[in-house]
Amino acid sequence: MNKYVIRGGRPLKGQIEISGAKNAAVGMIPAAILVDGVCRIENIPQISDAVIQLSILKSLGADVRAVTEHTMDIDCTGIKSAVADLDMMRKLRASYYLIGALLGKFGEATVAMPGGCNFGGVRPIDQHVKGFTAMGADVEVRNGLVVAKAAGGKLHGANIYLDVVSVGATINLMLAAVLARGRTVIENAAREPHIVDVANFLNSMGADIRGAGTNVIKIRGVERLSGGFYSIIPDQIEAGTYMAAVAGAGGEVLIKNVIPKHLSCITSKLEEMGVEIIEGEDCVLVRRRGALRRANIKTQPYPGFPTDMQPQMTTVLALAKGTSHVTEGVWDNRYKYVDELSKMGANIRVDGRAAVVEGVDHLTGAHIKACDLRAGAAMVIAGLCADGVTEIEGIEYIERGYENIIEKLTSVGADIRPVEEPEPEETVKRAV
Ligand code: EPZ
Repeated sequence: MNKYVIRGGRPLKGQIEISGAKNAAVGMIPAAILVDGVCRIENIPQISDAVIQLSILKSLGADVRAVTEHTMDIDCTGIKSAVADLDMMRKLRASYYLIGALLGKFGEATVAMPGGCNFGGVRPIDQHVKGFTAMGADVEVRNGLVVAKAAGGKLHGANIYLDVVSVGATINLMLAAVLARGRTVIENAAREPHIVDVANFLNSMGADIRGAGTNVIKIRGVERLSGGFYSIIPDQIEAGTYMAAVAGAGGEVLIKNVIPKHLSCITSKLEEMGVEIIEGEDCVLVRRRGALRRANIKTQPYPGFPTDMQPQMTTVLALAKGTSHVTEGVWDNRYKYVDELSKMGANIRVDGRAAVVEGVDHLTGAHIKACDLRAGAAMVIAGLCADGVTEIEGIEYIERGYENIIEKLTSVGADIRPVEEPEPEETVKRAV
């Protein structure tokens, strides 16, 4: 069993380089299925979610070659089947993008219901299904499988109004529409930077997508996409996570390879909390010396405050003077991590989608568990801020979305290290 051990209370100092965006990469890799030819994708983060997406493509028959650690040549012309590896698909949420890609390319898809972070409620795909159905697909969800088939073997364009602003549905319907007959309009579309990045990738391969980044996306189906080269944008949430780490632990860190505009709502919230932020062209300098001030946060779809930063910021607010109110505007229940913070002395009351955070003077190290990706990042921040030693289990969640988190944090002076522990007796007995 692997865990992280952190000796907290040390201000952070130095530079951190941000990796490619996870939520763009996990959409772009399946999108390669739509391309006749080699896609060279650069700046792919070395994280388990991206590795799994690449393995799923390989299991379908794609030729995937590493050019460098972060650059892959992907050629999907060898894919002949529309039935993906179900076990691998259940390991991550973004495997749902295989539905849009396989349907768009082959007019059919048989995939497993996606896995991914468990936010306490079901993570529905009804908006995805609604869109595919409008484009002429017959979609059945049964026995943990999604089986979709386009009437006449090919999708057609459609006008689709999303009842909820959904990142996944927006990207999935874009994938399905680029090779469909006619025009598709997605209204009430999500506008996250990774949606624009996947659209730019497809357009660079010959697609005709307009309006990505706005709430109305128009896609004119084309005959085919041809290969090309594309570089993934920096990860907005990884950058925000390190900004929150400096806000919590104190110090001064230059965060490099970012797009400051994508961070603006995180930057303004941290400034409200008393953190100094200086923006450069592709970097932000984050400095915290004085006391943290309380603040209220409401998470919303982009350009609102990202829900994927909520656990990290709530953890920092646990150390801010006064009372802060956090409202989770996207997910039903994204506070499962609060119990772990309470073990460290945080004072947070949760009521449904709202949390009332009473600032405390300090947190104390403890043995805690990561329950999902961003909750795991928040546990690391709590450990960096706490007095004493913190041990974090469930680090496999963290490694799903953060490349080299140990190296990056130790390079700015954090005392964090991975520890491998033998499986507890009963686990070994059970395995035998
Ligand atoms: C994407 O998840 C991200 N995952 C999530 O990040 C992120 O939290 C989320 O968008 C919101 O920004 C990836 O990109 C792989 P949604 P997704 O569809 O697509 C409801 C991380 O930490 N909804 O935008 O699953 C849904 O219940 C992960 O990197 C429907 O009701 O999210 C939620 O309340 C965690 N029906 C809201 O919409 C649908 O068909 C937003 O969900 C789809 C969604």
